[in-house]
Formats: sequence, structure tokens, C-alpha cells
Amino acid sequence: MSPHPHSDVLDSTVLGPTAQDPDVLDRGSEGTHRAGADDAAAMLVGAVKRYGSGSSSVVALDDVTIAFPAGRFTAVMGPSGSGKSTMMHCAAGLDRLSSGRAFVGNTDLSTLDDRELTTLRRERIGFVFQAFNLVPTLTAEENICLPSTLSGRRPSAAVLDQVVSMLRLGDRLHHRPTELSGGQQQRVAVARALVARPQVVFADEPTGNLDTRTGQEILGFLRSAVDLHGQSIVMVTHDPNAAAWADHVVFVVDGRVHDVVDRPSADTVLDVMKGLGR
Ligand SMILES: Nc1ncnc2c1ncn2[C@@H]1O[C@H](COP(=O)(O)OP(=O)(O)OP(=O)(O)O)[C@@H](O)[C@H]1O
Ligand SMILES: [Mg+2]
Repeated sequence: MSPHPHSDVLDSTVLGPTAQDPDVLDRGSEGTHRAGADDAAAMLVGAVKRYGSGSSSVVALDDVTIAFPAGRFTAVMGPSGSGKSTMMHCAAGLDRLSSGRAFVGNTDLSTLDDRELTTLRRERIGFVFQAFNLVPTLTAEENICLPSTLSGRRPSAAVLDQVVSMLRLGDRLHHRPTELSGGQQQRVAVARALVARPQVVFADEPTGNLDTRTGQEILGFLRSAVDLHGQSIVMVTHDPNAAAWADHVVFVVDGRVHDVVDRPSADTVLDVMKGLGR
């Protein structure tokens, strides 16, 4: 990793251990109680994810240690195929690491069986998938309410109204995904992740298919989820203007954390991207 001119907060909570200071967060079970770790909404420690085996195997995450601080907005950027979606899936407990550990708060996901993992995801995590992953047989409204329904709750009517009107989905609520445009499906996916007000929202390119206005509204909404409700957001984006809404940007290259930029502007993000030669 290149030298990083970041704040103390980032050094302790985003970067976790560094090559220079490997003891900041040890990798034993007590590691979660060390400075900074309690402030992490989610964290990967020595995370390796390998797909396949033998000569055709791909190392999508190559010893990644990163903490996503609680109550902050983190953007994740990097070239296509660099491991961003894999990092999100493993951090959110949607996929298991090959080695290393993933935490949500202080919960070590490797200690949970599949049923416990499902419960944790329902109760504490919202996820906007890169490919939307809406349930085709359910209407937009049923999709939006699904995470709450599955945990036997109903989302607050006020929050549902607010999210639906902000995303201009009011007249599409009773349509199924096949009857919605790509942008409308994406907005339903965003609404679904946010409406239960989970502690951590992972959003994989949530504005990728949206017009500028709707994209800005979603980014503003994610920002206010952090600023007003103390939620933690981790968002993959390829757009420097979207990344500029975040508190910091994590750059992933070849399955590794390459750099972290604090208080990003679109220009500083562009400079790093140019430095990556992509
Ligand atoms: N299920 C899978 N089986 C095999 N290889 C996979 C699988 N999922 C991802 N990969 C590989 O892992 C690497 C990282 O993929 P990943 O989807 O995490 O990239 P990404 O950074 O999200 O890319 P993009 O910006 O295109 O979405 C790629 O080489 C990809 O081909
Ligand atoms: Mg991806």
C-alpha cells in the first residue's frame, strides 16, 4: 500500500494494521477489542477469497485488511475485476472467505452457521446488488418491504413513504420487476436496502444505471442516512462525482487495498484513477 496522508481516524479504523504497524490490530480473537475496531461497522482482516481451484483459480481478494467505520460513508473504487463486489459480498456475509476473517460490528461471521448469518443479514445489513436481485414474482412494494417481512416486521410507514417518494416509485409500487425500467428496478433495489434502516448498507454501484438527477438524489439520501441516522454506508462506484459524496474512498486494485483518500473531491479521485492508469 502506498503511504497514506490520512487522518488518525482513518489510520486506526479504516486501514487497520499497516505494513509499518502490524500490531495496531492483531489477528487473534482479542483483536476486535483493540483501538478503533469497536468503531468499525464492518471489517475484513487478512481476507482472502479464491474462486475455483488449480490453474484456473482466481484470487479475487488477496489479503485485504480494511475497516469500514461506523457512521461514515465509504466509497469503494477500482478497475473492473479488481474485487470490489467480492469484497462487499464477503463483508456483508453473503459469501464466505477462503481465509481471514470478516466482522460485522464485533461479530465474527466465521463463527456463525448459515441460519445465524441469514438472521444477521436481515437484521443488520442492507444490500444493493450490482444486478438488483429483485424477486420477479413480487411487486415493487413487496420487494421493498421484503427484508422487513422476512424478519416478521413492517417497515415504518413514514420511512416507506419518504423513500418511495424520494425515489419517485409511487406509481410503480404494484408493478413487478419485468414491468419496470432498469433505472426503476435499481431504485427499488435501493429502497429495499434502506427502508428497514439497517446499521450497515452495502451498495454495489447503486447509481450506475440512473439519470444524473435521480443519482444525485440517491447519493443525497445515502449521505443523510449517515448524517441524520448514524447508518454506515459502503458504496461501490466508478463515478468520481459519486465518490465525492463519501467521507473517504478506498481504492482496490488486483484484490488489494491500494490507497485510501480522505475527504475526497471529484478531482482528487480522478487524479488517483489516472495514477492507476485506468
Ligand atoms: N463466482 C465467481 N467465480 C469465479 N470467478 C469469479 C466469481 N466472481 C468473481 N470472480 C472473479 O473475481 C474477480 C473479482 O470480481 P469482482 O466481481 O469482485 O470484481 P469487481 O471489482 O466488482 O468488478 P466490476 O467493476 O466489473 O463489477 C474477477 O476476476 C472475477 O472474474
Ligand atoms: Mg462488481
